[in-house]
Amino acid sequence: MRVLLKLSIFLSMIISTQVMAQLKDKLTYANYDQVKVSHLYLDLTVDFDHKALAGFADLSLNWSAKNATTVVLDTRDLIIEKIMAKSATGAWVKAPYVLAARDDVMGSKLTIKPGFQAATIRVYYQSTDKASGLQWLTPAQTAGKKQPYMFSQNQAIHARSWIPIQDSPSVRMTYSARIHTDKNLLAVMSANNEPNTERDGDYFFKMPQAIPPYLIALAVGDLEFKAMSDITGVYAEASVLEAAAAEFEDTQAMIDATEKLFGPYRWGRYDLLILPPSFPFGGMENPRLSFITPTIIAGDKSLVNLIAHELAHSWSGNLVTNESWRDLWLNEGFTSYVENRIMEEVFGVERAVMEQALDAQNLRQLVATMKPTSDTVLYVDLKGRDPDAAFSSVPYTKGQLFLIFLEQKLGRANFDQFIKDYFNHFAFQSIGTSTFVDYLKANLLNQHSDKVSQAQINEWIFSEGLPSFTPTPTSDVFTKVDSEISELLAGTLAAKDLPTANWTVHQWLHFLNNLPQDLSKDKMSALDQAHQLTSSTNNEIAHAWFLLSLRAGYPAIFDQLNDYLIEIGRRKLIVPLYKELAKTTKGKTWAQRVYQTARPGYHPLAQGTVDGVLGL
Ligand code: BES
Ligand code: ZN
Repeated sequence: MRVLLKLSIFLSMIISTQVMAQLKDKLTYANYDQVKVSHLYLDLTVDFDHKALAGFADLSLNWSAKNATTVVLDTRDLIIEKIMAKSATGAWVKAPYVLAARDDVMGSKLTIKPGFQAATIRVYYQSTDKASGLQWLTPAQTAGKKQPYMFSQNQAIHARSWIPIQDSPSVRMTYSARIHTDKNLLAVMSANNEPNTERDGDYFFKMPQAIPPYLIALAVGDLEFKAMSDITGVYAEASVLEAAAAEFEDTQAMIDATEKLFGPYRWGRYDLLILPPSFPFGGMENPRLSFITPTIIAGDKSLVNLIAHELAHSWSGNLVTNESWRDLWLNEGFTSYVENRIMEEVFGVERAVMEQALDAQNLRQLVATMKPTSDTVLYVDLKGRDPDAAFSSVPYTKGQLFLIFLEQKLGRANFDQFIKDYFNHFAFQSIGTSTFVDYLKANLLNQHSDKVSQAQINEWIFSEGLPSFTPTPTSDVFTKVDSEISELLAGTLAAKDLPTANWTVHQWLHFLNNLPQDLSKDKMSALDQAHQLTSSTNNEIAHAWFLLSLRAGYPAIFDQLNDYLIEIGRRKLIVPLYKELAKTTKGKTWAQRVYQTARPGYHPLAQGTVDGVLGL
């Protein structure tokens, strides 16, 4: 009996170490089950001439495996010059290493073998002009035209293209940095940016809260700062500073609203960095300093849900982090949900519901045509692909609808308390889908098993498509727009008589998204004449109008579309237009010509995507 018991304990130990060795994150080479980076120190010089960051990285290590002495890091297109290892006694010695051949998705595995459990590893290195996580802009490509600009975009796995690191969201570290630049430039990071830092070309940063590497961020440019409240402000080039500060003046109110709903903001300051229009995303939730596209500065705050979104990540994503990119919905679904709750608090329920309805409709259209259909699963199987290739609105909006479903079934008060406790319970941790599901069961569902079934939860998280019980956000304002569309199509209402005087941007978007794709050229032209859609200065309206025009074969847009595609590099706005153009030979030829001019101004990520669309 005792022997059997001992044997079974022994077996279960073997099994559990094997389970341990099955690391959850398949997109890193790091042996983070044996050793974890606990602190990163960067000392980098920003070299615009060579499009390079050059210097060294110190990685402080925490060993959990008793006999391990090897450190495996992620890199991509880095030049490694020398690696040193520091022992517990403080002596630095040269450490042998092997840099493996480059894998297209994962980059080059860097295996370092000091021969002992190093306390710190120092890697002397530089990034190259191929860095997928950096964009380098010439002065001509900036608003001010006088100084160059560079910025990083690490999510999902681009940190490794400018830092040799354990590039997994499962690994959290504090960091500090010294950044050397030209004296005329200001450097900012996802760390403690002091308002009105003196420009001397020598900048120091500290990030005392442990974050995953995808949240390390750096930008350098001819930046100025304007405060919006005691703890919020904007960094931007001078010519956009005032407009940005005015557009985003409700940022403090958004923080107050989120704290009231879901607990304290734990990061100190919250500033916004306005990027050049080539920034490939709408926003990026770099802690303490969200990176923001200028394409949402519309003059009427109509697109500021994006600020609510990036701010919401300070809870969902940055505080409680997805442990692998399969679990992205934990970041983005929760954030879309919190974003919308912030919008409801600050701008009212009518607008919040319109935003839900627009997103839900877009999701339904996407899910109906998505390939592979397995990408419609929340707990998505990346199948060895680059996470950028599998990126879609599924984790965002399906995730959000799942949480709206729970809220509606369990009651808002219960659900709010649950989310607040969830953020608190897992604060500064990286977790996976199963940890969330266990926590949900233990803390909410078990008490309300009559309202939501386990089968429903599983269908939301593990099944393709949208469940039959998916909530349908409905906006009365949109219902009215729908009947106006019917009258327009029936010919009982002329384009110029549409009651658009008080339409919000959201009503316009709903209107444009719901017109038939083969609307006659006469009706398109009448709409354009009456409402100046081709020259809309709202980038979302322009996007929706251009897309409709391409589908309906309305030709008057091409001059404006040309400028739009050259000016803007935000993937969400440009990629669907290129895709639509690529459907016809004539369209594709036109697009390829425009792209020749546009491409040098795009970020490497956007270049990659558009290259694919246009078959280059
Ligand atoms: N974290 C994302 C951006 C991201 C996601 C970058 C995945 C790389 C990989 C950011 O918070 C985001 O979702 N931005 C959206 C905002 C929108 C949903 C309001 C965007 O960029 O459009
Ligand atoms: Zn997000």
